[in-house]
Amino acid sequence: MTHARQHPIQVVAHRGASEEAPEHTLAAYKKAIEDGADALECDVRLTADGHLVCVHDRRVNRTSNGRGAVSALELAELAALDFGSWKNREEAPDWEHRPEDRQDTSVLTLERLLELVGDAGRPVELAIETKHPTRWAGQVEERLLVLLKRFGLDSPESPDRSRVRIMSFSARSLHRVRAASPTLPTVHLSQFVSPRLRDGRLPAGVRIAGPSIRIVRNHPAYIQRLKQAGHQVHVWTVNEPQDVGLCVDLGIDAIITNRPRAVLRQLGR
Ligand code: G3P
Ligand code: CA
Repeated sequence: MTHARQHPIQVVAHRGASEEAPEHTLAAYKKAIEDGADALECDVRLTADGHLVCVHDRRVNRTSNGRGAVSALELAELAALDFGSWKNREEAPDWEHRPEDRQDTSVLTLERLLELVGDAGRPVELAIETKHPTRWAGQVEERLLVLLKRFGLDSPESPDRSRVRIMSFSARSLHRVRAASPTLPTVHLSQFVSPRLRDGRLPAGVRIAGPSIRIVRNHPAYIQRLKQAGHQVHVWTVNEPQDVGLCVDLGIDAIITNRPRAVLRQLGR
């Protein structure tokens, strides 16, 4: 069954254009903006000295030439690492890592990403995911909101007018964000079909569901229930053309993808 959608489907670059450039680097986000992505997704973690940086894993081992947990390293230590050259070795044969691009592949702070979005020259939204926020007892959300305030992004007039949304698998993290900033939109991510999701319900005050593509493939009826309950649905991580087609058919509101250029092309944009 095809569902009506109120807005054009949004294409969100997951960790930047992360199929073509190393994830969570300035290079990947610049590429996503160049490719025409409507929004950028990023994961945030706190460093040992309290800076929010865009890193997916708990440790830096997979995506840099360093070792250790982000939470145990200071920003200056992270800044000395190279978050680019692993991509040469393992994934993208087209990705050329040149020493002069060093700035674009060093650790990315959320602050720098906000500057990039501000300088994009066109409206680009940001979907920020809080990673393992429970460990930090509210500090991730607190720092996040302080930073958003500095950029004038913490209290949009209404959720529909916000250029930023906060995503998390943790309902508690989203609750903290909403308590501090009620008009900032929040997205509850899910990897499994919980009883709540099955009934088309989200944690109190959350308007956007963020199911995995596997949930969408296997349980389209739940997705329809969410839509009927008036929720937006943002799906991750959608890289295959048949999944893009499925999302279009089901009236999904946002596609989060490692391949923004290919998805935009498939959507005729
Ligand atoms: O956009 C949500 C998605 O990024 C959640 O999974 O592991 O890629 O952060 P992960
Ligand atoms: Ca993420």
